[in-house]
Amino acid sequence: MTRSSFCLQRDTVLSEPAIEVRRKSQGKQIWAMEIKNRLVGMRELYQEWKDYDEDNPRSVMSRLAVVSGGSRGIGRAVSHLLAQRGHRVVLLSRNQEAARAAAESLPGEKHVGLNCDVSREEDVQRAFESIRKTCGTVGILVNAAGINRDTLLLRSKSEDVLAVLHTNLLGSMLTCRAALKSMLSHGGAIVNIGQCVYSASKAGLEGFTRSLAKEVASRNIRVNLVAPGFIHTDMTAGLEQADVARKIPLGRFGEAAEVAQAVYFLLESPYITGQVLLVDGGLQLAL
Ligand SMILES: NC(=O)c1ccc[n+]([C@@H]2O[C@H](COP(=O)([O-])OP(=O)(O)OC[C@H]3O[C@@H](n4cnc5c(N)ncnc54)[C@H](OP(=O)(O)O)[C@@H]3O)[C@@H](O)[C@H]2O)c1
Repeated sequence: MTRSSFCLQRDTVLSEPAIEVRRKSQGKQIWAMEIKNRLVGMRELYQEWKDYDEDNPRSVMSRLAVVSGGSRGIGRAVSHLLAQRGHRVVLLSRNQEAARAAAESLPGEKHVGLNCDVSREEDVQRAFESIRKTCGTVGILVNAAGINRDTLLLRSKSEDVLAVLHTNLLGSMLTCRAALKSMLSHGGAIVNIGQCVYSASKAGLEGFTRSLAKEVASRNIRVNLVAPGFIHTDMTAGLEQADVARKIPLGRFGEAAEVAQAVYFLLESPYITGQVLLVDGGLQLAL
């Protein structure tokens, strides 16, 4: 029952014309209230638009992106694409000089390179605290920091297994947790990068990506995973490429820029979360 019809039911002693007059005026009051509410909403929206400033930590839609592993390979290609599209990028890697040099090589200004070992909680906390103070609110996080020590389990050393898990899985969890502190109030987008072939760290990252996506969806934060196949970077430099390429349906290794395109697609797709996107030249079809 609408508010006006409820009021009319109580007006049974009034004459028909009086009821009509009252009905019209109550209807107008409701419209007036609706218009007033909408105007208040528009004023607030206008104020947020007016206050928007990429360099301001309180900005409503941060275009600040953090890329772990941004100094080389896939992370560097992602950083380049984000910078080209107008984002300010903070690159993280263990080697500070490499991170700084990569930041300086990006198109645009104000990009930053910081040293941060993502497998160390105190490093991650320090880096994100410094980002918050000097750069502002993080709106985008891409986890491209990773190492590869793949070998048969019987030949593997425990320290290598732990190093992979600590960097590729725990590292992404630590940076996600640190970035979420900014994203909770403004929304955001996260893309983790895992491995396409079987690996414990990739399986863990997939489960983590899905459960985090569910946990933070109501705060307008999306979390997805990109799983590359064989990509030309330092990580694959030691492989016998011709042999491997024969097993890939598209017949070649991918380029870091091709993975960056997929990462950017997920960052920019407002209705995709909790998904795994394979960028592998069809490798999964052949496994
Ligand atoms: N290339 C491929 O074919 C391929 C395939 C599937 C998945 N991936 C995944 O894609 C991601 C990127 O691989 P990539 O090929 O671009 O590797 P890459 O060329 O070897 O670059 C790795 C990047 O991660 C950084 N990094 C490594 N450990 C780190 C740590 N503990 N803390 C912070 N930064 C760290 C490196 O910088 P520093 O050394 O200075 O720290 C570097 O910037 C990795 O997760 C990898 O597993 C790659």
